[in-house]
Amino acid sequence: MKEQLESLLAAAVANLQQQGTLPAEVSVRIQLDRPRDKSHGDFATNLAMMLAKPAQMNPRALAEALIAAIPENTVLAACDIAGPGFINFKIDQQQLLAQLERAYTDERLGVEPAEQAKTIVIDYSSPNLAKEMHVGHLRSAIIGDSVARVLEFLGHRVIRQNHVGDWGTQFGMLLAYMEELDTDALGMELSNLETFYKAAKKRFDESEEFAQRARDLVVALQSGEPKCRELWQQFIDISLSHCQDVYDRLGVQLTRDDVMAESAYNDDLPNVVEDLRQQGLLVEDQGAQCVFLDEFKNKDGESLPVIVQKSGGGYLYATTDLAAIRYRQNVLHGDHLMYFVDQRQGLHFQQIFTLARKAGFASSELQLDHYGFGTVMGKDGRPYKSRDGGVTKLADLLDEAEKRALALLQQKNTSLTDEEQAHVAQVVGISSVKYADLSKNRTSDYIFDWDTMLSFEGNTAPYLLYAYTRVTSMFGRAQVDPLAITAPFVLADEREINLAKLLVQFNEVVHSVADKAMPHFLCGYLYEVAGAFSSFYEACPILQHEDEAVRQSRLKLAALTAKTLRQGLSLLGIPTLEKM
Ligand code: ARG
Repeated sequence: MKEQLESLLAAAVANLQQQGTLPAEVSVRIQLDRPRDKSHGDFATNLAMMLAKPAQMNPRALAEALIAAIPENTVLAACDIAGPGFINFKIDQQQLLAQLERAYTDERLGVEPAEQAKTIVIDYSSPNLAKEMHVGHLRSAIIGDSVARVLEFLGHRVIRQNHVGDWGTQFGMLLAYMEELDTDALGMELSNLETFYKAAKKRFDESEEFAQRARDLVVALQSGEPKCRELWQQFIDISLSHCQDVYDRLGVQLTRDDVMAESAYNDDLPNVVEDLRQQGLLVEDQGAQCVFLDEFKNKDGESLPVIVQKSGGGYLYATTDLAAIRYRQNVLHGDHLMYFVDQRQGLHFQQIFTLARKAGFASSELQLDHYGFGTVMGKDGRPYKSRDGGVTKLADLLDEAEKRALALLQQKNTSLTDEEQAHVAQVVGISSVKYADLSKNRTSDYIFDWDTMLSFEGNTAPYLLYAYTRVTSMFGRAQVDPLAITAPFVLADEREINLAKLLVQFNEVVHSVADKAMPHFLCGYLYEVAGAFSSFYEACPILQHEDEAVRQSRLKLAALTAKTLRQGLSLLGIPTLEKM
């Protein structure tokens, strides 16, 4: 509907240009908003105010002219001018009914595929493997996964890339410690990578001899010494299986096949440096190979370098990312490369994107975007820590989520068996953690608070999951197949109209999530749908209604609500429950 209205307005602008009311050369982006106050209409635009100046007209007069110039159509029921020159539109009821019917019968709920299907490479999760995944790894995995699901739903070809850090000096220290332990002890110690890392670090700091061995092992690893490689591979395998456990528990769709580790680019790193050299971009600075980019300056106005090779010959994070861009463009044939990485790495990505274009590693058509996110904070307003003040392992965090959800359910009087309760607790616990993250604007920090995220009230997973079971339980009682109602929609009550109008916005919302990589749009929308359903359900009798036509229509509205909640949650990577 939004698109239809947009083209009607574009036609109105063109008509006024033809009449000479508007100069032929003006071009304007038509902005349509949803008025907060629903009584104002379904859409509003500031178009007349935007064009008043070039038209040399008073905005209200121009608004009138625009309305008069809108072509004959069946979409609009009314257009009004408000305030200094806003135009409010009301959509025709028949249109709404037609859209509603389409959403009900369509398995995609009326969500249109993207106009142009692209190959989109999404870099997300991408933890360093030296340590176990911790709370800082939550956001990339959860947000990236949801955006991947949305883009796939819109018909894009999505390639997931887990750019894990499996290389670098820390691994020398870990290998040295592995060598010291006998096989049995090693197996035990590696089951907790966090303590393993700490123990290795302790040895490293204590003993110069150990530290030297660690440094030698880095060299041996990098030169491909077989024993050393084998040991390293063993460590990486264990660390990756820890990650996989976390992904499986979180319902994050990453597998071993999506892992394209930093080490996979090793052989290409000398080529990257050589190519930069041939293009005359390299400058030697204190023995290091650097590229100075004029686009990035420090506060004294000096260009900042991107270091691609250290004086000792070692390569860096940036070098690997340059190789990865080439691979994603040339081998994976990506049209768009997306990176879901902490926003503190913003400068790094701006630099490598700029450099990749300069060096011709990224063609001008290739779209490159870093989607940063804020930090997970504790209630004290500082980055979230475990009780002992250390970083919180993700595995522990998820255990706690499930435990807390179970305790909450046990307090409630439910008819669930113990087994069902355990399952519900697991889904509610994990979904609460995910939803708390997804429902916040990704660019802000957010406060990790168990009580808020597990609450059955407000914009939370428990609230939405519960709302869903409330709708579906009605179908059990009504003994109807919610997807096979053939009676037409009839809308009379204000609350059912309100719900219906929201339900047909699903298409628009899903597309906006894809455009901005902002899953919180979808969360806010689903929350609104659940709220609108609740008002409708309280005010409008469904099963008890004596008029069969109304009863059928209301059941159908409930069915579409359930379908929308379910599909929406699934795009967020959250499963629904039949009862809770
Ligand atoms: N391993 C990095 C870290 O933990 C994130 C990698 C992100 N992806 C990338 N292509 N640089 O900070």
